Amino acid sequence: MKAITPSGAPVLTAVNGPPRRAWLDTLDALLILLPATRAQSLLGTLPLGASLTTEMRRLKLKAGATLSVALPTQRPLRTVLGLVGDEADTFQILTLAGKMSREIVTTRPQRLGIWTPDLAQVSNPSHADAVLAAILANTETRPSAKRNPGPQQRPTHIDIAGPVSIDWTLALERGAHLTRWLTQLPPNLLNPGSYQKALRTLATRHGWKMTVYTEPMLKRLGAGAFLAVTQGSARRDAALVRLQYRPVKRRGKATGAPLALVGKGLCFDTGGLNLKTAKSMLGMHGDMGGSAVAVGTLAALTEARFDQPVDAWLALAENRIGPNSYTQQDVVTAANGVSIQVMHTDAEGRMVLADTLALVSRTKPACIIDFATLTGACVVALGDRLAGAFTNRLALRDLIEGAGRRSGERVWTLPQPADYDDDLESPVADLLQCLIDGKADHIYATRFLSHFVAADIPWIHVDLSTAERVGGLAHVGNTCTGFGVRFASYLATDAAFQDAVQNTRNVA
Ligand code: BES
Ligand code: MN
Ligand code: ZN
Repeated sequence: MKAITPSGAPVLTAVNGPPRRAWLDTLDALLILLPATRAQSLLGTLPLGASLTTEMRRLKLKAGATLSVALPTQRPLRTVLGLVGDEADTFQILTLAGKMSREIVTTRPQRLGIWTPDLAQVSNPSHADAVLAAILANTETRPSAKRNPGPQQRPTHIDIAGPVSIDWTLALERGAHLTRWLTQLPPNLLNPGSYQKALRTLATRHGWKMTVYTEPMLKRLGAGAFLAVTQGSARRDAALVRLQYRPVKRRGKATGAPLALVGKGLCFDTGGLNLKTAKSMLGMHGDMGGSAVAVGTLAALTEARFDQPVDAWLALAENRIGPNSYTQQDVVTAANGVSIQVMHTDAEGRMVLADTLALVSRTKPACIIDFATLTGACVVALGDRLAGAFTNRLALRDLIEGAGRRSGERVWTLPQPADYDDDLESPVADLLQCLIDGKADHIYATRFLSHFVAADIPWIHVDLSTAERVGGLAHVGNTCTGFGVRFASYLATDAAFQDAVQNTRNVA
C-alpha cells in the first residue's frame, strides 16, 4: 500500500450511429440500457438483437430487470441488457447500471461496449453516462496491502454508442474515486500529517493554492474548540487546510467570491475520554469522509473546468484518548468569541467545524457547503440511503433536493428551528456543545454549528449518513460510497443555485 492517491483510466471512445456488426465483433462484452416500453423495437436495430428480444419476451421482463445473454458473434459476445422504467429517476438508473456493471466485470472484458440509443430527450446524466459511471466505480483500484492483489477487472477500452458527456462523467468519477480512496485508507497510513502530504501532491497536480493553518497558527487565531479536540493527540500534526481552485480568467467575466466547501477530517475518532465501544469505533477511520468529499468535489470541478472559484477547507484532526484529552465540563472559546461548555468528548466533529466555519466566514465566500459524518442520529433518522441537509436559506431547499435527484445522490432537507437553541443554553458558557441524552442530535448539532457561520452567508450543512453502506449505494458497489461528490458537483454547477445564492447573500 504505497500510493496515497489513486491512478488508472481506460481509453474511452465515442462511437457514432447505431451499433454495427463490425463494431460488435471487436468487443469482449456489451452493456445495453433501454427504456422498457420501447425495448423490443429498439432491439430490432441491433445486429443479432433477435436473441435478446426472444429471451426478453419469454421471461416477461419488466422495468428494472437485467438479462444476460451471449450474442452469436464470431466469439459469443457477453451481453447484459437493462430495462429502464419510464418514470425512473437518476438514482434508479444508476442502481440498474451498477447491477449490470457488476455482472459484466466479473468476466474481465478488455474491450467493453456500451449501447444506449439516441432518444429524443437526453438528460444529464444520460443513460450512457450512468453505465460509464457504474463501470468506472465498480472497477476502480482500492488501497490494498495484499501480496496478491487479484486480477484487474477494469476494461482497457470502453466504446460508447449513444449520447454521453464523457468529460463530465469522468471528472465526477475520478473525484469520487479520490474520495473513496482517501476514506478507505487505514488510520495508520492516513493521519493528519500524511493527509497534508497527499494534499500537497494533489494541489500541485491540479494547480491549487494550498495554505496550512498549523496548531500554533490556530492558537493565534483563537480556535479553542478545534484545539480542544486535537490536544489529545500525541503528534502535533492537526491542521486546517485551505485549497483554492481559481478558473482560468475569461475576458469580460468577473470572478466573484468563491464557493467554500468544508469537510470534517477526523482521521480517527475514538470518542475521546467518552470512549466508543469496539463496534462503534470500527469504522471511525472513515470519519474524515466529509473532508474527502470536499477534496473529491474540488478535483471533479477542477477537471470539469468549472468557471467559478472554489475553496476547500479541511479540518484535519484525530479524536484520541490520553492524559491531555479534552474533558467533559471543559469550557473553551472558538475563533468568533463564542464560548462552549463541553458535554461529551465524542461530539468532536462540531468542535473542529465550529472554528473552521468561523474562520471560513471571515473570508466572505459566496456560500458555504459543509460535509461531515457528524451524527449517528442522522443515520437513525434517515437510514443510509439518503443524506440529511440543513440550510439557513429556505430558498435553497428545492435546489438542494433537486441536485440530489439529478445527481442520483439523494439528500433530504431537515428542519433546524431557532427555538431548539433554548435547549443549548449553558449555565456557564454561551453554548452547550450538545445534549447528553442525544435525541435529535443531528438538529442540535446543526443549531450549534449555526452559531459559527456569519448570518449573511448562505450555508448548507450535509450530514453524511450515506458515507458507509454495506453493499454500496446506487451505481457504487463499494461499502465506502464516496457519496457527496456527485451531489455537490451538480449543485455547484446549477445556474439556478448560483442565482439563488447571490440573491440570498446579505439577507440574513
Ligand atoms: N463521527 C461520529 C458520528 C457518526 C457515527 C457518524 C457513526 C456516522 C456513523 C461523531 O463524532 C459522534 O461520535 N457523534 C456522537 C455525538 C453524541 C456524543 C452527541 C453520536 O452520534 O453518538
Ligand atoms: Mn465522535
Ligand atoms: Zn466523529
